[in-house]
Amino acid sequence: MTAVVVGASSGLGRALAGELARRGQPLLLVASDARDIEAIGADLRIRHDAVVRCLALDLAREADPGARMTAALEALPPVTSVLLAVGLSRGDDDFGLDASRIGELLAINLHAPLAIVHALLPRLRETRGVVVLFSSIAAVRGRGRNVVYAAAKRGIESMYESLRHRHAGAELRVQLYRLGFLATNLTHGMRLPMPAVEPVDVARVVADRLQRGSARWYLPRRFALVAAIVRLLPWGLFRRMRA
Ligand SMILES: NC(=O)c1ccc[n+]([C@@H]2O[C@H](COP(=O)([O-])OP(=O)(O)OC[C@H]3O[C@@H](n4cnc5c(N)ncnc54)[C@H](OP(=O)(O)O)[C@@H]3O)[C@@H](O)[C@H]2O)c1
Repeated sequence: MTAVVVGASSGLGRALAGELARRGQPLLLVASDARDIEAIGADLRIRHDAVVRCLALDLAREADPGARMTAALEALPPVTSVLLAVGLSRGDDDFGLDASRIGELLAINLHAPLAIVHALLPRLRETRGVVVLFSSIAAVRGRGRNVVYAAAKRGIESMYESLRHRHAGAELRVQLYRLGFLATNLTHGMRLPMPAVEPVDVARVVADRLQRGSARWYLPRRFALVAAIVRLLPWGLFRRMRA
């Protein structure tokens, strides 16, 4: 039964691809650069004897990513999970972006996940599959940084609720992770207020829970407390937070 990992070339997606290949799961791996993703696929085939197909798609520009993925899935066993570990953030996402950059961030962080889920839903419902979404601690309360990124992540949270509202747990499972800081390209060079966790550790937890039902989790769990504090901070204090 095939798992689709979107954003499989680095960070959490790459760790998920490794963890799932190690567990014998056939994979469709998606990222923008053909050479990167093919090299990762080849490595997983050699190390784990895994069935791996790779698809290079620039999700900032691809109008219908779901159609390309549906076609690529024809050569694989039925799809049972789609893990949307794709994301892009920018240091200048502080009301300093022009319209095309805003569109790019929305395309990668929100349009692509929405379009992919829409396209794969019929197949996932046939297998009582699971959609795995990744939101962020950045989406808890809007700040003057990560403006578009956080808005897109709120959209991901809304998609989680819509999917659960529309589809009973007996026909589709939906899992949402509100992630804290991970040591990946996305946070590279940033000054973080808390230590970043390793993506392989997060990937192991996500893979362990794939067979479970629908749920929303903070990962690492301590970020539930961080989120509660951020939400409850008085406005005057929250406004002065720069991290
Ligand atoms: N790192 C954190 O602290 C953190 C915190 C909260 C939430 N998250 C979320 O966790 C998920 C994984 O993030 P990460 O930290 O693992 O990030 P990452 O290491 O930067 O990986 C992002 C992945 O998205 C892919 N991607 C980006 N732009 C793309 C495009 N135009 N077309 C196709 N693929 C594209 C990248 O592939 P290519 O660039 O090779 O195409 C890469 O595989 C994301 O949803 C992110 O928002 C991360």
